Amino acid sequence: SSPDAYEEISPVIAHRGASGHAPENTRAAIELAARQGARWAEVDVTISADGIAVIHHDADLKRCSDGDGLVIQKRLAELKQLDVGSWFAEQYRGEQILTLSELLVLANHLELGLNLEIKPTIGREPETVWAIHKALQQVHFEQPLLLSSFSIHALQSARRHMPHITRALNVEAIPADWQHRLEEADCAGLHFAKEFFDAAQVSAIREAGYHMLVFTVNDADTAQRLLQAGVDGVFTDLPQVLEQALGNARG
Ligand code: G3P
Ligand code: MG
Repeated sequence: SSPDAYEEISPVIAHRGASGHAPENTRAAIELAARQGARWAEVDVTISADGIAVIHHDADLKRCSDGDGLVIQKRLAELKQLDVGSWFAEQYRGEQILTLSELLVLANHLELGLNLEIKPTIGREPETVWAIHKALQQVHFEQPLLLSSFSIHALQSARRHMPHITRALNVEAIPADWQHRLEEADCAGLHFAKEFFDAAQVSAIREAGYHMLVFTVNDADTAQRLLQAGVDGVFTDLPQVLEQALGNARG
């Protein structure tokens, strides 16, 4: 991992992998993102009952698997029994929940930069960060790496255990006290929702020396506008669309 992941960031980051065309946060979605030309992917990281870092967005298993209940109440062996592909399309039946270690090996192989979004269950922030730390000790990750979270507690924990990995604060709307919030967890970047884009705020944040990424942007015009306004990149479910529109313009 690099001292500042933003130096190597791509303007196009595959959101949960190529999640518009493959089941989010799975091996299939990550591989498709790479095939579609993405150089970076964002995934959501949480923990199993036995404290293993796994890739899943919701706390609950209902939406994105053939099971139900909470991820944090199932051991990895139970999670591995679930099918996380067929809810999206029959052709993806057989996809299994990825551990973070498996994802790191895959992204090394595909040469993909990773934004690990820490999605801890409230109260389990330190364990979630510790599980990420353990996975990164197990697998030497050779690509740029960026940690982010909506949870200040998780970011502070990350700062303690993995101070050398670049951190970003996730928010929906840009808070009025953004500078204070970024300083609280010593973050290099702010990631916010496109609905809350504000040109003056973006200029001020940039002038203060912070980086910005915006979620979730699935059309090229919006992406262009945001990049011109000074954000570093966008998260997209459709990396192919944005890579085609923006990729060639890269210096
Ligand atoms: O990390 C950016 C974005 O993924 C945050 O929202 O709900 O898609 O994880 P969400
Ligand atoms: Mg996310």
